[in-house]
Amino acid sequence: MNMSDALLEIRNLTTQFRTDKGTFPAIAGVHFTINKGEIVCIVGESGSGKTVASLSAMQLLPPAGQIASGEIWFEGRDLTKLSKKQLSQIRGKSMSMIFQDPMMALDPVFTCGSQIVEAIRLHESVSRSAAYKRAVELLDHVGIAHPSRVMEAYPHELSGGMCQRIMIAMALSCSPKLLIADEPTTALDVTVQAQILELLKRIRSETGMSIMLITHDLGVVAEMADRVAVMYAGKVMEEGDVRSIFRNPRHPYTQGLIRSIPQPGQRGGKLHSIAGNVPGIGSMPTGCRFHPRCADATDACRRSEPDLIETEEGCKARCWKAHPSWEEEEAG
Ligand SMILES: Nc1ncnc2c1ncn2[C@@H]1O[C@H](COP(=O)(O)OP(=O)(O)O)[C@@H](O)[C@H]1O
Ligand SMILES: [Mg+2]
Repeated sequence: MNMSDALLEIRNLTTQFRTDKGTFPAIAGVHFTINKGEIVCIVGESGSGKTVASLSAMQLLPPAGQIASGEIWFEGRDLTKLSKKQLSQIRGKSMSMIFQDPMMALDPVFTCGSQIVEAIRLHESVSRSAAYKRAVELLDHVGIAHPSRVMEAYPHELSGGMCQRIMIAMALSCSPKLLIADEPTTALDVTVQAQILELLKRIRSETGMSIMLITHDLGVVAEMADRVAVMYAGKVMEEGDVRSIFRNPRHPYTQGLIRSIPQPGQRGGKLHSIAGNVPGIGSMPTGCRFHPRCADATDACRRSEPDLIETEEGCKARCWKAHPSWEEEEAG
């Protein structure tokens, strides 16, 4: 795909948070592109900055968070330059988001149906009965067997998987060009997780929608992604097309994540086999942010941070080992 196919392009984005101890970047100089019709996965352990990256793209940061620098290009406009009103129009029409806990995202005191109807009427001036009809169609479309019955149900009466289907139906109600899905299946059991991922893939192929899929599970990446960006401590450490990255991961962090993919039959997808933890935003190590956990780290890694450089066509890594200068360093 060429550059003109880009739907979302995040350029050099730094988002910071005010905390008791000062203001620190949670993501620093993040750069990635999502092309039309593509599923791009953002993967990394908890605390890597995946959610901050997606909330920044949607311009839905909490009050303590702020974009310090960078650009977010979406359909030819830099979202960091738009007014609140322009942004809410884009969010209602071209971009939607779904979250990890669908039960939390739905209002417990209203029926699912009335919430979908409201979502539809928020960005489309249609009658209540037309919106109701459309809501039933959407529920059918996301694989809900008895849509009319589910319309009358309250969220607590439904399973997590069912609620996530309802959130997806609501997200689709405006026919978005981009769906941002932040760990949409993490709270669901394995079978339901597979069904929801299948649904997202089907919707992508039917509508040509792009999906930014956030996950801590490389198994999900293997299943879903065209391209992947591996984040660690607020930076993209490696990115590229998913086959190349799995075949030949260049960053020790990516290699560690791949080694920690649970084997078939093993429950859960938690990444816990890399020793140590993701540093907090106020205590980033010097040099390469991963060096304290990296078995291959050298003085160069402790001293200075490598750039994200091309390793093969369509792939980049932020690692001194991938730099042309590495061999010389080692030799010298
Ligand atoms: N409201 C906030 N205030 C301070 N720090 C925050 C806030 N939200 C997120 N962070 C910090 O930003 C970093 C990235 O968080 P997050 O994007 O939620 O990670 P991920 O989604 O990859 O698990 C973490 O260190 C987290 O503690
Ligand atoms: Mg998160």
